[in-house]
Amino acid sequence: MLVEVFPDYEAISDRAAEIVTDQIRRKPDSVIGFATGSTPLGLYKRLIQNHAKHGLDFSKITTFNLDEYVGLSPDHDQSYHYFMWKNLFDHVNVTPARVHIPQGMADDVDAFCEWYERRIEQAGGIDLQILGIGGNGHIAFNEPGSSLGSRTRIKTLTQKTLEDNARFFDDPAEVPRYAITMGVGTIMDARKVLLLGSGSGKTAAIKATLEGPITAMVPATIVQLHRHAHILVDEAAAATLEYRHHHGITEPK
Ligand code: GLP
Repeated sequence: MLVEVFPDYEAISDRAAEIVTDQIRRKPDSVIGFATGSTPLGLYKRLIQNHAKHGLDFSKITTFNLDEYVGLSPDHDQSYHYFMWKNLFDHVNVTPARVHIPQGMADDVDAFCEWYERRIEQAGGIDLQILGIGGNGHIAFNEPGSSLGSRTRIKTLTQKTLEDNARFFDDPAEVPRYAITMGVGTIMDARKVLLLGSGSGKTAAIKATLEGPITAMVPATIVQLHRHAHILVDEAAAATLEYRHHHGITEPK
């Protein structure tokens, strides 16, 4: 694992943007796994700037999003479809036919999940998977207890995640209780994973992920087994790491 500790969120976002930009420049037809949540927003802002100012070309990339709420239509303002188009895809030159986001309204969810797995395979597998982390150590919507070998499927969200997400909905009762999510095994098949953790709400999850035992109770701990896991955290998220000073510390430029 390559762990880099940065002073703050902006610095993590700068570094993440460098990594993703470099991936797309080196391999214009990269398959990129995108994540939602507030954490990658700084990264997406920078990718949009790199497209506008430096011509970063997204036209040949293929994208797969990690997850989507079950029961929200793509135009619902809390759906992950809406999130991705509003915060990234609408502002760069992605080719819509190459964009994949799980369908929260699929009639046959199981068949959809199988199809999603096949599409990832047909695309040649994911080159770089971007990941946030839940306060309880979930990745995508693989909640504690998720099989570490799991594939794309429907999951019930935990009370903690429902509470964390309630702030985005006018009425907490509207928060979807289920999601379609890539499995932990699907994520581990990516050739590289880039996990971002920022703020004090992530300190315990980052400590468990980097220094705890590998356990299904903290699904993010599986990244310890990945051959190319790159973890970017800020001082707040890194606050309780025992090997804190062994990890790279990057000073502001
Ligand atoms: C949701 C998403 C995850 C994301 C997590 C953290 O649960 N399914 O992919 O990592 O939220 O979100 P945030 O970055 O807003 O803390």
